[in-house]
Amino acid sequence: MMTSAEIRQQFLDFFNSKGHTIVPSAPIVLKDDPTLLFTNAGMNQFKDYFLGNKKAPYNRAADTQKCLRVSGKHNDLEEVGVDTYHHTMFEMLGNWSFGDYFKKEAIAWSWELLTEVYKLDKDRLYVTVFEGDEKEGIPKDDEAFEEWKKVIAADRILLGNKKDNFWEMGDTGPCGPCTEIHVDCRSDEERKQIAGATLVNNDHPQVIEIWNNVFIQFNRKKDGSLEVLPAQHVDTGMGYERLVRVLQGKQSNYDTDVFTGTIDAISKIVNKQYKATDDKESIAFRVLADHIRAISFTIADGQLPSNTGAGYVIRRILRRAVRYYYSYLEYKQPLLHQLLPVIAKQFETVFPELKAQQDFVGKVIKEEEEAFLRTLDKGLKLLDNSFRTAMPISDGVDSDFHAQLSGEVAFELYDTYGFPLDLTKLIAFEENIKVDEVGFEVEMQKQKNRSRSASVLDTDDWIKFRDKAITLSGVALLVDGKEIETKVPSTSVIQYRKVKDKKGEFYQIVLEITPFYAEGGGQVGDSGVLLFDENELIEVYDTKKENGLVIHFTKKIPANLNGSTKVEPKYDVERRKKIAAHHSVTHLMHAALRNVLGKHVAQKGSLVNDEHLRFDFSHFAKVTDEEIAAVEKIVNEKIRENIPVVIKEMKKDEAIALGAMALFGEKYGDTVRVVMMDPAYSIELCGGTHVGSTGELGLFKIKHESAVAAGVRRIEAVCGQAAEALINEQFELVRSLRDTLKNPKDIKKSIENLLTENASLAKHIEGLEARQLVGVRNELLQKDQIINNITFVGEIIEVASADALKKLCFDLKNHLHDHVVVLCTNIDGKAFVAIGISDTVVAAKNLDAGKIIKEHISSLINGGGGGQKNLATAGGQNVANLKEVIEKVKSLL
Ligand code: ALA
Repeated sequence: MMTSAEIRQQFLDFFNSKGHTIVPSAPIVLKDDPTLLFTNAGMNQFKDYFLGNKKAPYNRAADTQKCLRVSGKHNDLEEVGVDTYHHTMFEMLGNWSFGDYFKKEAIAWSWELLTEVYKLDKDRLYVTVFEGDEKEGIPKDDEAFEEWKKVIAADRILLGNKKDNFWEMGDTGPCGPCTEIHVDCRSDEERKQIAGATLVNNDHPQVIEIWNNVFIQFNRKKDGSLEVLPAQHVDTGMGYERLVRVLQGKQSNYDTDVFTGTIDAISKIVNKQYKATDDKESIAFRVLADHIRAISFTIADGQLPSNTGAGYVIRRILRRAVRYYYSYLEYKQPLLHQLLPVIAKQFETVFPELKAQQDFVGKVIKEEEEAFLRTLDKGLKLLDNSFRTAMPISDGVDSDFHAQLSGEVAFELYDTYGFPLDLTKLIAFEENIKVDEVGFEVEMQKQKNRSRSASVLDTDDWIKFRDKAITLSGVALLVDGKEIETKVPSTSVIQYRKVKDKKGEFYQIVLEITPFYAEGGGQVGDSGVLLFDENELIEVYDTKKENGLVIHFTKKIPANLNGSTKVEPKYDVERRKKIAAHHSVTHLMHAALRNVLGKHVAQKGSLVNDEHLRFDFSHFAKVTDEEIAAVEKIVNEKIRENIPVVIKEMKKDEAIALGAMALFGEKYGDTVRVVMMDPAYSIELCGGTHVGSTGELGLFKIKHESAVAAGVRRIEAVCGQAAEALINEQFELVRSLRDTLKNPKDIKKSIENLLTENASLAKHIEGLEARQLVGVRNELLQKDQIINNITFVGEIIEVASADALKKLCFDLKNHLHDHVVVLCTNIDGKAFVAIGISDTVVAAKNLDAGKIIKEHISSLINGGGGGQKNLATAGGQNVANLKEVIEKVKSLL
């Protein structure tokens, strides 16, 4: 039996022999495509080649791509673990033609690979071909049909509709008709009884699609129309886990060696055997074996679990897994992180990024698990109670459900206990209870301010003046390894569009050539101006990259913008210089951190702008003051050495051999841009802008160090003018302190003296006050009256605080028997009242100091208060009625 590793290798070798360049998997987390959070198909990384935005460096490519389908158009999460052939993360084996070969070769090679290399039984295979679609104006795919007929009997070629045989990446983007290959894994006996052809595309667990060959010819536009692409391409995707299952002759993906290692590990941890059945325990095994892959590879590619966007998707997957082991494997401690060594080892040679960051990823997962386990039990109990009181559904509309869980409860679970909505739904569905999702959304809206959901964009289609966008970014302009300030005297607009978001309308403009730097690698985008036709100046407030295009953001466009409008782009040079300085110093600091803290330090996030830098990196402890000082010292030395910053383009392998630091989760081409500041000190792969030599950075200062997530620390720092401003600010602070303290010789000593003095004064005052209160008390004792056998003391006195009133009431208790005391004072125009009643009087006369305050006194002093039966206090705005207060209490006796 072939191992899963051999099966993968044979795929790559086969296409390599057919002239394909073998490329690495792109990161699973996507960074510069606003329409997608995760790579959901092998073709994502080639989207620009299909659309014609960029020229492919090769005509043919093949790879295995890490994919995730848990959000957006392709979403399989609910199925995962319940069945045996859907996954969150999976590997997609693919081969591509970029305007090169088409249907004939793609079909012939897929058949050759499956039947001659993998030796699949031909009469277990079926293929589907697009039947055409009148509405879209696309005819039946006769060409594919004819090609298939050359190798497979016509009755095994089935026609499929748009849903199955027209593949689209998302709501917009490259698409085209496709042909799928299905395999019937049933026993011979079953196959005799029911013809396999009738089970294709019918959700039969043993008759499954393994390979999809898409013939990319169109771009789906926002208005729903199809635009014919300049060239025709091939995009294929074969589900690796399914292929392995078929070739290893297993009933389930989870019985192949892709998953058995993890399942064995789970089995050891929970001390239960995996039984491969449909019960909850078996599902839990499969959920864990599947989910740990998605969780660990997304984190390794740089996405931490969080409350928004891609981070929340990971959190949801993780929490679904925790709930399964908690409820069905009866394991109540963090489990997932224990599986990491198995996964990291298994994928060591295919996706080495996990092994390289095993400790870090494990730590992040463990902390997430611990956090959720802390609230899971309470949440499940709340849910259980709510099920018992859930509203029955009587209208018979939702016949599958007998009751409905309210949106409020679902939201409370989400907000307080961290239950993602789909987890609540999942648990509810198990009890045949429906969740009021609309109600949940209503609650969510109410808390809108707290949920920082990504702003909703409403984007018009591009208005194109030219087809090709060769945008040349300013950073490409290097002379002798140095960046030069770039000027583009005149260029034109290739395309533009209008976009609306919550804040309003704006425009995105793509120029033929631009010196503007587009946000990337943590460096913010340039701002500046565009001068149109030598007379209209329009401000560019940001620049970003999207699918390889540099996009200028403006609030308006010239009235008659067209393809021959001349544009002179000018970015803000002064701002760029400050940004570049913070970028260069980030490299110096990164290297210094690795020297001081260790080689485990890896960049996890970065923000570089004109005011400061923010750098997140993996490290497990607080960075101490000494370590911070050591980092600052190294960086400042490197600044004083005035090292020239050398930027070069070279082959990626060459750069790695030089020791360049590449980031995990970043996609690099074959040729990379390398930024060096003394090759023995700092070499990084980087697309950002930099200073000419380190002396320009002036001075470096760390402002702040903190934690951002498990195992991730954050440093905020400044250099150049910003550092100068910071130092000046601190000096000014000290100077003004010195001033305030009347210019002492030793300012620290002087403050210490003040503190000591203050403490002793406070003590002294406390003593004086106590003595003063004794005096007041003695005077009060002289002023008692007897009313109905009760000693009454009622006085307006002068004391320093409301607390003193209370203390006096207490003290008088020790000197009087059956008594009622009411003391009032006026402190800075505010009225304060305290009433003390001896327990004997409380009992005998049924008096209650708290009640008296509430019912009689609060209104008199225009305030409020309360307390016990024997002691209560109040405060208010009106000091004019203090006499009445005393009379009132007296009258109650
Ligand atoms: N892009 C095609 C798919 O994902 C091959 O199915």
